[in-house]
Amino acid sequence: MLLLEHVDKSYIIPGRQHVPVLHIPYFQMSPQEKVALVGPSGSGKSTLLHMIAGILRPTSGTIRLLDKQLDSLSESELDRFRAKHIGYVFQSFNLLPGFTAMENVLAAMRFGQVIPPKLHKERAADMLDQVGLSHRLHHKSGQLSNGEQQRVSIARALVNNPALVLADEPTASLDYANAEQVAALLNEACRSHGAALLLCSHDLELAGTMDRTINIRELSQTAAGRAG
Ligand SMILES: Nc1ncnc2c1ncn2[C@@H]1O[C@H](COP(=O)(O)OP(=O)(O)O)[C@@H](O)[C@H]1O
Ligand SMILES: [Mg+2]
Repeated sequence: MLLLEHVDKSYIIPGRQHVPVLHIPYFQMSPQEKVALVGPSGSGKSTLLHMIAGILRPTSGTIRLLDKQLDSLSESELDRFRAKHIGYVFQSFNLLPGFTAMENVLAAMRFGQVIPPKLHKERAADMLDQVGLSHRLHHKSGQLSNGEQQRVSIARALVNNPALVLADEPTASLDYANAEQVAALLNEACRSHGAALLLCSHDLELAGTMDRTINIRELSQTAAGRAG
């Protein structure tokens, strides 16, 4: 379902030419598989997720997701492909400010164009119910607690039935009780929607609930955290 071959990423920093961050000879994930990606801060975990989502392009190498080779897609094709097939959960939630919980989930459906429009409202309410927010549908994102905002972002990530969910430190901004609840919800939402999950986390307990754990320093021969 996901295959990376010889993926390199360097950042260009003025005065320092190319700074190599990742060199990944091979990485694959199967449909519905759950993988934890661990490694210290600065080792390239977010960079890897951004490349898989097509937000960042690799310096060289190929990334295939479903039937597509990402480097063959234009920016607008990538935007459409991502909206349809990938759900993204961020540490900082990234909800649309000033929009309600419902509106945030509805917007993802409009971009994805997977769900027939006449079903959007009912489905948004149902997704928010699945994450325990049926009493918060019309609250704006700024009126929600951190735990509630992350639950909205889980509903938003799964609403188009994506093949893959990428979660970048999804519990790092939450207190312990909320982190546990959000982790359980994310796990269950991916399972029930048949999505694969690639999750970066410092939380080894959470990583332990995935099918396998990969250390980015073993995956990548130049992971930035290697020396440190
Ligand atoms: N836009 C950028 N320009 C230059 N260097 C960057 C940029 N983004 C990240 N880096 C560097 O790449 C390395 C990996 O960063 P990142 O992927 O954010 O790591 P992690 O998510 O594991 O903390 C770090 O050394 C970071 O400083
Ligand atoms: Mg990161």
